[in-house]
Amino acid sequence: MKRIGILTSGGDAPGMNAAIRAVTKTAIHHGLEVFGIRYGFAGLVAGDFVPLTTENVDHKINEGGTFLYSARFPEFAQEEVQQKGVEQLKKHGIDAVIVIGGDGSYHGALALTRHGVNSVGLPGTIDNDIPYTDYTIGFDSACRTAMDAIDKIRDTASSHHRVFVVNVMGRECGDIAMRVGVASGADAIVIPERSYDVKEIAETLTRGFADGKDHGIIVLAEGVMAADKFKDELLKYGDFDARANVLAHMQRGGSPTVTDRVNATKMGNYAVKLLLDGKGGLAVGMENGELNTHDILDLFDGKHQGDYALLDVNEEMTKY
Ligand code: F6P
Repeated sequence: MKRIGILTSGGDAPGMNAAIRAVTKTAIHHGLEVFGIRYGFAGLVAGDFVPLTTENVDHKINEGGTFLYSARFPEFAQEEVQQKGVEQLKKHGIDAVIVIGGDGSYHGALALTRHGVNSVGLPGTIDNDIPYTDYTIGFDSACRTAMDAIDKIRDTASSHHRVFVVNVMGRECGDIAMRVGVASGADAIVIPERSYDVKEIAETLTRGFADGKDHGIIVLAEGVMAADKFKDELLKYGDFDARANVLAHMQRGGSPTVTDRVNATKMGNYAVKLLLDGKGGLAVGMENGELNTHDILDLFDGKHQGDYALLDVNEEMTKY
C-alpha cells in the first residue's frame, strides 16, 4: 500500500477536520501518500482528488465543518456507480480509503472493500446513532452548542415565565436530546425511542409554575415532531405561555470540543494502522473509552443503544 484516500460523507460534524488531520499525519509518518477526496462519494466517482500534505492540515484541528466538503450520494448504492468510483481510485493509484461519516457512508466503505479497495469507516455524525460505539465524532460538540443555546433560551424564558419547546437534532436517535436535556435541566426530554404523555408533561410544567418556578424547558428530538406542533399539543393541557424553538443546523457548526478533537485524532490514527495491517471492511468505534473495531456488516444488523438511564435521572430532577 502506497497511497490512501480519505473522504467525508453525509452530514458534516465538528471534529471531521481533526480526523482528516490525524489520518494525513499518521499516513505520511508511515511513508504513505494521502489524497483527499472532495464531496464524499460523489467526488470519488467524479475523480475530485487533491493531494494532502501536513501543511494542508496544520491549522485544521480547531475548525468545524469539513474542508474536504461533504455530500449525500445515495447513487453510490448502484453497482455501476461503485465501479466508476473504483476505476477512479485505480487511475490515481489509491489502494485504500478511510471514510468518515454516518451509517449511510458505511455502505459505501463496505462496497469499496468488496471491490478490492480496503476501506475503514470512522463514525462521523452529530447524531451518535451508530451501533457498537458509544461515541461518534461531533456528538460532544453538537451537545455543547445546543446546551449553550438553551442556556440563553432559559434567560428569556425566565424573564417572561414561559415554556420553551426546543427541537434538537437527531432523526431517529434521542442521544443529543437526552444529554442536552440533562445538562440543561429540562423539565422533560422527548425522544423517538420512548413513548411520552403530553398531558403528564403539561402537568409537570403547571406544578413547577405553581411551586414558584419561573420557566419551563422541553428538549424534543426532531425525529419525534416539530417543536411548534408539540407546543400546540402542550397548550391543550396547560394554561401557560409557550414558544417553540428549532436549533437545527447550528448544532453541526463551530469549533470541536476537546473530546471531539482528541477522539477524532485517536480514531484517525488507528484507522491508518488498520489499513497498514491490510484490514478493510471495518468500522472503528469506542466503548467505555476504548477504541474498538467491528465488521461493517455487523453494524447493519446492530442497533445503537443510547444511555436511556439519563431519562430516569432527569425525571427525578423534575419531582419538585
Ligand atoms: O445526520 C445528521 C443530521 O444533522 C441529522 O441530525 C438531521 O436530521 C440531518 O442530518 C439533517 O440533514 P440535512 O443537513 O441534509 O438537512
